[in-house]
Amino acid sequence: MNQESRTSEDRYRLGMDLVEQLGSGEAVPTTFELLDMEWEVLPGTYAPHRGTGTEWYTTVIPYPKGGRFLEIGSGAGVTAIWAALHGGCSHVTATDITEAAVGSTSRNAELHGVADQVRTLRSDVFAELDAEDRFDMVFWNCSVFEAPSEFEFTRDVEWAIFDRGYEALGRYLSQVHDRLLPGGRALVTFNTLGDVDRVTAVAADSGVTLNLLDSSARNLKGYDVTYKLFEILPGTQE
Ligand SMILES: C[S@@+](CC[C@H](N)C(=O)[O-])C[C@H]1O[C@@H](n2cnc3c(N)ncnc32)[C@H](O)[C@@H]1O
Repeated sequence: MNQESRTSEDRYRLGMDLVEQLGSGEAVPTTFELLDMEWEVLPGTYAPHRGTGTEWYTTVIPYPKGGRFLEIGSGAGVTAIWAALHGGCSHVTATDITEAAVGSTSRNAELHGVADQVRTLRSDVFAELDAEDRFDMVFWNCSVFEAPSEFEFTRDVEWAIFDRGYEALGRYLSQVHDRLLPGGRALVTFNTLGDVDRVTAVAADSGVTLNLLDSSARNLKGYDVTYKLFEILPGTQE
Protein backbone atom coordinates (compact mmCIF):
# COMPACT_ATOMS: atom_id res chain seq x y z
CA MET A 1 0.00 0.00 0.00
CA ASN A 2 1.28 3.44 -0.84
CA GLN A 3 1.99 5.59 2.17
CA GLU A 4 -0.19 8.54 1.16
CA SER A 5 -3.29 6.38 0.71
CA ARG A 6 -3.22 4.92 4.25
CA THR A 7 -6.24 5.80 6.37
CA SER A 8 -6.02 6.35 10.14
CA GLU A 9 -7.44 2.82 10.60
CA ASP A 10 -4.70 1.38 8.34
CA ARG A 11 -2.07 3.19 10.42
CA TYR A 12 -3.58 1.93 13.68
CA ARG A 13 -3.44 -1.68 12.42
CA LEU A 14 0.14 -1.16 11.23
CA GLY A 15 1.08 0.25 14.65
CA MET A 16 -0.43 -2.80 16.38
CA ASP A 17 1.55 -5.10 14.06
CA LEU A 18 4.76 -3.30 15.06
CA VAL A 19 3.83 -3.60 18.76
CA GLU A 20 3.76 -7.38 18.24
CA GLN A 21 6.98 -7.46 16.22
CA LEU A 22 9.12 -5.04 18.22
CA GLY A 23 8.02 -5.66 21.79
CA SER A 24 10.58 -7.54 23.84
CA GLY A 25 7.92 -9.81 25.31
CA GLU A 26 6.28 -9.52 28.70
CA ALA A 27 8.09 -12.32 30.52
CA VAL A 28 11.87 -12.37 30.63
CA PRO A 29 14.78 -10.02 29.85
CA THR A 30 16.15 -10.49 26.32
CA THR A 31 19.19 -9.33 24.40
CA PHE A 32 19.66 -8.01 20.87
CA GLU A 33 22.50 -6.67 18.78
CA LEU A 34 22.54 -3.26 17.14
CA LEU A 35 25.39 -1.07 15.90
CA ASP A 36 27.85 -3.88 16.71
CA MET A 37 26.95 -3.76 20.39
CA GLU A 38 24.90 -6.05 22.58
CA TRP A 39 21.91 -4.65 24.46
CA GLU A 40 19.72 -6.09 27.19
CA VAL A 41 16.06 -5.21 27.61
CA LEU A 42 13.68 -5.79 30.46
CA PRO A 43 10.25 -7.23 29.60
CA GLY A 44 7.99 -4.68 27.92
CA THR A 45 10.79 -2.50 26.53
CA TYR A 46 10.86 -1.54 22.84
CA ALA A 47 13.76 -3.48 21.28
CA PRO A 48 15.14 -1.51 18.32
CA HIS A 49 16.26 -4.19 15.90
CA ARG A 50 17.93 -3.61 12.53
CA GLY A 51 15.76 -1.47 10.28
CA THR A 52 14.30 0.64 13.07
CA GLY A 53 14.87 4.39 13.06
CA THR A 54 17.04 4.01 16.16
CA GLU A 55 19.77 2.36 14.12
CA TRP A 56 19.99 5.32 11.75
CA TYR A 57 19.18 8.30 14.03
CA THR A 58 21.76 7.23 16.60
CA THR A 59 24.57 7.56 14.08
CA VAL A 60 23.53 10.87 12.45
CA ILE A 61 22.56 13.05 15.42
CA PRO A 62 24.94 16.06 15.57
CA TYR A 63 25.79 15.41 19.25
CA PRO A 64 27.08 18.41 21.23
CA LYS A 65 30.75 17.55 21.90
CA GLY A 66 31.53 18.02 25.57
CA GLY A 67 27.93 19.10 26.14
CA ARG A 68 24.80 18.03 28.00
CA PHE A 69 22.41 15.75 26.08
CA LEU A 70 18.81 14.98 27.09
CA GLU A 71 17.01 12.05 25.49
CA ILE A 72 13.27 11.84 26.06
CA GLY A 73 11.89 8.30 25.69
CA SER A 74 15.22 6.45 25.80
CA GLY A 75 13.72 2.92 25.57
CA ALA A 76 16.57 0.41 25.65
CA GLY A 77 19.01 3.33 25.92
CA VAL A 78 20.85 2.85 22.61
CA THR A 79 21.00 6.54 21.66
CA ALA A 80 21.67 7.81 25.20
CA ILE A 81 24.56 5.40 25.67
CA TRP A 82 25.94 6.11 22.21
CA ALA A 83 25.86 9.84 23.01
CA ALA A 84 28.14 9.19 25.99
CA LEU A 85 30.37 6.58 24.34
CA HIS A 86 30.77 7.94 20.81
CA GLY A 87 28.96 11.29 20.67
CA GLY A 88 31.42 13.03 22.99
CA CYS A 89 28.69 14.26 25.37
CA SER A 90 29.96 14.92 28.89
CA HIS A 91 26.57 14.29 30.49
CA VAL A 92 23.44 12.45 29.35
CA THR A 93 20.03 12.45 31.00
CA ALA A 94 17.75 9.69 29.68
CA THR A 95 14.06 9.65 30.55
CA ASP A 96 11.16 7.40 29.71
CA ILE A 97 7.54 7.09 30.76
CA THR A 98 7.81 3.35 31.51
CA GLU A 99 9.71 1.83 34.41
CA ALA A 100 10.82 -1.04 32.13
CA ALA A 101 12.54 1.34 29.69
CA VAL A 102 14.22 3.30 32.49
CA GLY A 103 15.52 0.03 33.97
CA SER A 104 16.74 -1.15 30.55
CA THR A 105 18.61 2.12 29.92
CA SER A 106 20.27 1.91 33.38
CA ARG A 107 21.25 -1.70 32.76
CA ASN A 108 22.79 -0.90 29.37
CA ALA A 109 24.64 2.13 30.75
CA GLU A 110 26.24 -0.23 33.30
CA LEU A 111 26.98 -2.92 30.69
CA HIS A 112 28.76 -0.38 28.48
CA GLY A 113 30.64 1.34 31.30
CA VAL A 114 28.98 4.78 31.13
CA ALA A 115 26.74 4.64 34.22
CA ASP A 116 28.61 7.61 35.71
CA GLN A 117 27.78 9.77 32.67
CA VAL A 118 24.18 8.63 32.02
CA ARG A 119 21.49 9.61 34.51
CA THR A 120 18.12 7.85 34.11
CA LEU A 121 14.79 9.18 35.22
CA ARG A 122 11.16 8.10 34.87
CA SER A 123 9.27 11.07 33.50
CA ASP A 124 6.29 11.96 31.34
CA VAL A 125 8.15 14.17 28.81
CA PHE A 126 9.71 16.98 30.95
CA ALA A 127 7.45 16.64 34.02
CA GLU A 128 9.97 15.16 36.50
CA LEU A 129 13.06 17.13 35.47
CA ASP A 130 14.34 19.78 37.87
CA ALA A 131 12.89 23.14 36.91
CA GLU A 132 16.35 24.61 36.27
CA ASP A 133 17.81 21.66 34.31
CA ARG A 134 19.06 22.78 30.85
CA PHE A 135 20.84 20.97 27.99
CA ASP A 136 22.90 21.63 24.86
CA MET A 137 20.70 19.20 22.93
CA VAL A 138 17.29 17.66 23.54
CA PHE A 139 16.19 14.72 21.37
CA TRP A 140 13.14 12.49 21.11
CA ASN A 141 12.67 9.53 18.77
CA CYS A 142 8.95 9.85 19.38
CA SER A 143 6.05 7.41 19.04
CA VAL A 144 4.77 7.96 15.50
CA PHE A 145 1.30 6.41 15.44
CA GLU A 146 -1.66 8.49 16.56
CA ALA A 147 -3.94 6.49 18.85
CA PRO A 148 -7.58 7.49 19.25
CA SER A 149 -8.43 9.48 22.40
CA GLU A 150 -10.18 6.47 24.00
CA PHE A 151 -7.11 4.22 23.53
CA GLU A 152 -6.00 2.53 26.79
CA PHE A 153 -2.33 1.57 27.13
CA THR A 154 -2.28 -2.02 28.43
CA ARG A 155 1.31 -3.04 27.57
CA ASP A 156 4.44 -1.00 28.20
CA VAL A 157 5.69 -1.40 24.64
CA GLU A 158 2.57 0.35 23.27
CA TRP A 159 4.03 3.63 24.56
CA ALA A 160 6.86 3.22 22.01
CA ILE A 161 4.44 3.08 19.09
CA PHE A 162 1.32 5.10 20.00
CA ASP A 163 0.62 8.66 21.17
CA ARG A 164 -3.02 9.49 21.98
CA GLY A 165 -3.93 12.41 19.70
CA TYR A 166 -0.19 13.28 19.45
CA GLU A 167 -0.71 14.92 22.86
CA ALA A 168 2.74 14.00 24.26
CA LEU A 169 4.42 15.18 21.06
CA GLY A 170 2.54 18.49 21.31
CA ARG A 171 3.80 18.98 24.88
CA TYR A 172 7.36 18.13 23.80
CA LEU A 173 7.29 20.58 20.89
CA SER A 174 5.83 23.44 22.90
CA GLN A 175 8.13 23.02 25.96
CA VAL A 176 11.45 21.87 24.47
CA HIS A 177 12.95 25.33 23.93
CA ASP A 178 12.55 26.12 27.65
CA ARG A 179 15.00 23.25 28.33
CA LEU A 180 17.88 24.54 26.20
CA LEU A 181 21.10 26.21 27.28
CA PRO A 182 22.10 29.24 25.17
CA GLY A 183 22.94 27.96 21.66
CA GLY A 184 21.28 24.61 22.40
CA ARG A 185 19.39 22.63 19.78
CA ALA A 186 16.09 20.72 19.90
CA LEU A 187 15.58 17.65 17.70
CA VAL A 188 12.73 15.28 16.98
CA THR A 189 12.25 12.35 14.62
CA PHE A 190 9.28 11.28 12.55
CA ASN A 191 8.71 8.79 9.77
CA THR A 192 6.41 8.13 6.86
CA LEU A 193 4.47 5.36 8.65
CA GLY A 194 2.91 8.06 10.85
CA ASP A 195 0.57 10.88 9.83
CA VAL A 196 2.92 13.57 8.52
CA ASP A 197 0.09 16.09 7.88
CA ARG A 198 -1.20 15.76 11.46
CA VAL A 199 2.29 16.27 12.87
CA THR A 200 2.82 19.38 10.76
CA ALA A 201 -0.43 20.71 12.25
CA VAL A 202 0.63 19.76 15.82
CA ALA A 203 3.92 21.62 15.28
CA ALA A 204 2.06 24.73 14.09
CA ASP A 205 -0.30 24.55 17.11
CA SER A 206 2.77 24.25 19.37
CA GLY A 207 4.29 27.42 17.86
CA VAL A 208 7.28 25.72 16.20
CA THR A 209 8.56 24.79 12.75
CA LEU A 210 10.15 21.43 11.87
CA ASN A 211 13.26 21.87 9.74
CA LEU A 212 14.42 18.67 8.02
CA LEU A 213 18.10 17.93 8.79
CA ASP A 214 18.42 14.49 7.22
CA SER A 215 16.38 11.50 6.02
CA SER A 216 16.93 7.86 5.09
CA ALA A 217 14.74 5.34 3.23
CA ARG A 218 14.73 1.87 4.81
CA ASN A 219 12.56 -1.20 5.26
CA LEU A 220 11.12 -2.06 8.66
CA LYS A 221 9.64 -5.54 9.07
CA GLY A 222 8.41 -5.51 5.46
CA TYR A 223 7.18 -1.88 5.42
CA ASP A 224 8.92 0.76 3.30
CA VAL A 225 9.64 3.75 5.51
CA THR A 226 11.57 7.01 5.31
CA TYR A 227 13.03 8.13 8.62
CA LYS A 228 13.36 11.88 9.14
CA LEU A 229 15.42 13.88 11.62
CA PHE A 230 14.14 17.41 12.28
CA GLU A 231 15.45 20.41 14.15
CA ILE A 232 12.66 22.20 16.02
CA LEU A 233 12.81 25.93 15.42
CA PRO A 234 10.85 28.44 17.48
CA GLY A 235 8.01 30.22 15.65
CA THR A 236 5.80 29.20 12.77
CA GLN A 237 6.35 29.89 9.09
CA GLU A 238 4.20 32.58 7.47
C1 LIG B 1 9.92 5.07 19.31
S1 LIG B 1 10.32 4.65 20.94
C2 LIG B 1 12.05 5.08 20.94
C3 LIG B 1 12.84 4.36 22.00
C4 LIG B 1 14.35 4.58 21.92
N1 LIG B 1 14.68 5.97 22.08
C5 LIG B 1 14.86 4.09 20.60
O1 LIG B 1 15.15 4.93 19.73
O2 LIG B 1 14.96 2.88 20.43
C6 LIG B 1 9.58 5.99 21.89
C7 LIG B 1 9.93 5.98 23.37
O3 LIG B 1 9.25 7.07 24.00
C8 LIG B 1 8.68 6.63 25.23
N2 LIG B 1 7.55 7.51 25.55
C9 LIG B 1 6.30 7.49 25.03
N3 LIG B 1 5.55 8.46 25.56
C10 LIG B 1 6.34 9.12 26.45
C11 LIG B 1 6.13 10.23 27.33
N4 LIG B 1 4.93 10.84 27.40
N5 LIG B 1 7.16 10.65 28.09
C12 LIG B 1 8.38 10.02 28.03
N6 LIG B 1 8.63 8.95 27.23
C13 LIG B 1 7.62 8.51 26.44
C14 LIG B 1 8.30 5.19 24.98
O4 LIG B 1 8.14 4.45 26.18
C15 LIG B 1 9.46 4.72 24.11
O5 LIG B 1 10.52 4.21 24.87
